[in-house]
Amino acid sequence: LSWYKKHWRKLPWRETRDPYAIHISEVMLQQTQVERVIPYFHKWMKDFPDYKHLAQASKTELLKHRSWLGFNSRVLRLQACAQQVVEHYHGILPNKRNQLLWLLWIWPYTSAAILAFAWNQEVPVIDTNIRRVLIFLYKLPETISIQELEDFAITIIPKGKSRDWHNALMDYGALELTARKTKIKPISKQSKFEGSDRQVRGWILKQLTKDTTLLSICRVQWEFPKKDIKKILQQMQKEELVVIKDQNII
Ligand code: ADE
Repeated sequence: LSWYKKHWRKLPWRETRDPYAIHISEVMLQQTQVERVIPYFHKWMKDFPDYKHLAQASKTELLKHRSWLGFNSRVLRLQACAQQVVEHYHGILPNKRNQLLWLLWIWPYTSAAILAFAWNQEVPVIDTNIRRVLIFLYKLPETISIQELEDFAITIIPKGKSRDWHNALMDYGALELTARKTKIKPISKQSKFEGSDRQVRGWILKQLTKDTTLLSICRVQWEFPKKDIKKILQQMQKEELVVIKDQNII
């Protein structure tokens, strides 16, 4: 905590206690770097300031944000969740773990992060950085399960300081105890972006936002000769990210 006092990173979602803003930031921060998230976060909060606005947003408005949220169609998932919050909780996120977990697309990590950062609740938040820091500092085996790690992590949260504690652990992991320094591997090595379906999806969505000529399936296949473009497009169509018409993508 004393290290954090000196070295903390000033981040927009740390200047709010609004559960909605924190929820959005946590979804954005999944698999996207902090620096890249900041501008998107500001734009998102301007366009959709709360669950009600998000729940009522039109597809067109949502799709303006799809170029970064494209993969896994995070935009549509967030809207589905917002609609539940509006319908069942009058647009106010509940502050109980089991209620959060009942909501669409809120997983254990997200629920813990929201409870700690919005309400300062003493729940263990374990992301890749925090896992690495705990294993390194407390000399835990790398094979420790998340459940065991949570059981341990909850015992060391300083009373009444859950928010600062978890922010501190995140920053300490990002700035000091890096993966390179500790040689501790993440649990699931993220598939490399290069050559992945995610890269193809991102590229397609970027072309579509350019708003110039038609984007044909052939053009995408030409760009990514080794990929099964039909399959990727079928999935994107299912997620309502694109529509295919006469061999063109819209
Ligand atoms: N990564 C995931 N959540 C984060 C947060 N709240 N601050 C910084 N990095 C994060």
